[in-house]
Amino acid sequence: MSVEIRPQRLSITRIRSRKGGEKLVCLTAYTASVARLLDEEVDLLLVGDSLAMVVYGFDSTLPVTLDMMIAHGAAVVRATHHATIVVDLPFGSYQASPEDAFRAAARVMAETGCNAVKLEGGEEMAETVAFLVKRGVPVMGHVGLTPQAVNQLGGYRSRGHDTGERGKIIADGVAIAQAGAFSLVVEGVNEALGRELTAEVAVPTIGIGASPACDGQILVTDDMLGLFAEFTPKFVKRYRSLGDDIRAAAHDYAADVRHGRFPAAEHTYAAPARRAKAGAG
Ligand code: KIV
Repeated sequence: MSVEIRPQRLSITRIRSRKGGEKLVCLTAYTASVARLLDEEVDLLLVGDSLAMVVYGFDSTLPVTLDMMIAHGAAVVRATHHATIVVDLPFGSYQASPEDAFRAAARVMAETGCNAVKLEGGEEMAETVAFLVKRGVPVMGHVGLTPQAVNQLGGYRSRGHDTGERGKIIADGVAIAQAGAFSLVVEGVNEALGRELTAEVAVPTIGIGASPACDGQILVTDDMLGLFAEFTPKFVKRYRSLGDDIRAAAHDYAADVRHGRFPAAEHTYAAPARRAKAGAG
């Protein structure tokens, strides 16, 4: 009998041990088809609540539900075997109490098979992070520009430009790291602040618009592939223009169908050969 040995996923402890070492490469994924393509190229895939905007067309991340996150998280886990998979806890599922957060996180972990959850917030969420970590739920933090707080922040502008805000973001990151988070997404801050926060915390910082000083980087995959072109933040580097390719492919397909060029003979099932009439003559 031969047993197939599948390579193991990168563990949370290995991600944590990369602090100050080889840069951590992270992307978002929401579907099995895309996750399968990204898996072996990255260290970590985040099933981000950005799927509210990217996949479902909402204008913020707030409307996404726990059931939606679980459905997409499970699809991404099924399609991958290499990267650590982190699933976002959606708005409203964890802020009210550590117990609420545990119930939401336990469902996400049990029903998707992911490695960790991510939640947004700073000092005010430290107690919740400690509560989850003590109960076996690895947590990734998220500070700086926190999109679930868009209504409070008044938009998606970068953060930490005055001394007060800068001090608060450092305190937030330190509190979440000390509470036991294994890594910290830092979003939308200037280079000096990204560098200072990375030096202050003992866990890897994963930057998105937070400078090369961070221990790793994450981008929304649809942004870097040119699939989500409605708005492109300054920090996004576009590696491909797949949106243009998809539009061109749809245009060519439409022309082929309209002009009878598709389906051609090679796309068509041949009729069975006629059987010779039995007993003829
Ligand atoms: O939801 C998301 O995609 C995120 C990334 C921007 C880090 O939180």
